[in-house]
Amino acid sequence: MANTVIIGAQWGDEGKGKIVDMLSATSDVVVRFQGGNNAGHTIAVNGNLTILHTIPSGILHPGKMCLIGNGVVLDPFVFLQEIEGLKENGIDVAPRRLGISHKTHLILPYHVALDKAREAYKAGGKIGTTGRGIGPCYEDKVARIGLRASDLTNPDLVRTKIRAALVEKNVLLRDLYKAEPLDAEAIIDQVLAIAPQITPYLTDVSGVIQESVRMGKNILWEGAQGVHLDVDHGTYPFVTSSNTISGCASTGTGIGPNYLQQVIGIAKAYTTRVGAGPFPTELDDATGDFLREQGHEFGATTGRPRRCGWLDAVVLRESARLCGLTQIALTKIDVLRNLPVLKICVDYMYKGHRIEYPPQGENALAEVTPVYEELPGFTEDISSCKHFEALPYNVQKYIQRLEALTQVRITYVSVGPDRDQTILC
Ligand code: IMP
Ligand code: MG
Repeated sequence: MANTVIIGAQWGDEGKGKIVDMLSATSDVVVRFQGGNNAGHTIAVNGNLTILHTIPSGILHPGKMCLIGNGVVLDPFVFLQEIEGLKENGIDVAPRRLGISHKTHLILPYHVALDKAREAYKAGGKIGTTGRGIGPCYEDKVARIGLRASDLTNPDLVRTKIRAALVEKNVLLRDLYKAEPLDAEAIIDQVLAIAPQITPYLTDVSGVIQESVRMGKNILWEGAQGVHLDVDHGTYPFVTSSNTISGCASTGTGIGPNYLQQVIGIAKAYTTRVGAGPFPTELDDATGDFLREQGHEFGATTGRPRRCGWLDAVVLRESARLCGLTQIALTKIDVLRNLPVLKICVDYMYKGHRIEYPPQGENALAEVTPVYEELPGFTEDISSCKHFEALPYNVQKYIQRLEALTQVRITYVSVGPDRDQTILC
């Protein structure tokens, strides 16, 4: 396996955790490059579900090195909780196999408080954030007032930065958002108390990756969220606050883009979205409810019901272009079983014209009408199919049509949540 980037090709929750877990078996290093614990990567092994929010999904494979890159925002308290949960399940989480970049920015309690207070304050135009402090933490990074993982080795720096941050944050919390102000000294104490548990994990992530590449090892970059939640290229302002496209694997871990050899886009066989924002193929009807029930479409991080709709090939075409997709892994196609007709959105109508890519401009996607193609459904149980040829004819046709529409090869088809319910095509 070559060096590979995994990204979500839709609005997140495409089943990246499962595919990363599967590909981890043939990788030596698994690294996260953006996002934070807004992610929820669900992995099923022998029927047991594990949800990871912060630690790379590769951790479930013994012996693999897992890294958290500089592009990630890390909640150190959540990180430690996740470590404890994994330890209880007998998973090795020693610093020898798990590293955090010195440059990773830390999500602190005031980021979480601001995220929630700001969202509650908004009358309309709520983004529907996960409320984990992701946006406020990235804001501080860009404002050059953030706390980075390496700062935990310097208590004086921790004190200075948190005190300075809270002067500003408390004005916002108290005077604008009418929320409870926070006590800087209490947060400093909490942070300094856990610092010794975090600092052993500090790692030169860029250096480890370069060295691994030099030794001929395989690296897997594990993306979070999805292309259309990208802060630049997504459905702004209804997006997350990081770049989610494949290029962020380079900036978010500190390696040249020429190291990224394969880019696998994970796409669900239908579409979902959590939170607000345009969603052209959304189904507000019994079919939407069917997909939500059959697909268990409830957020892994927030438990919110996900909005559901038909497969949108325009969205995937755009992802192929933005990320240089070399392959697509199609997930949850088994969920479509028993729907008499399967619709794929092949183009959009926009201001009287038929278009192949999403229109530019804020919220322009809210103004498109999907152009659908109808394909016949299937009733067979495909959850134990092991080969493409074993899939019912109508399922094969659906997959082939999507390949033609996106001009990207579909190399994996997932027919159930478990590791071994994956067809290599
Ligand atoms: P934030 O990332 O918490 O700021 O949320 C911004 C938007 O991105 C909201 O619509 C969230 O529901 C969405 N979002 C963030 N992370 C994920 C994810 O991992 N899967 C799906 N949607 C996400
Ligand atoms: Mg998720």
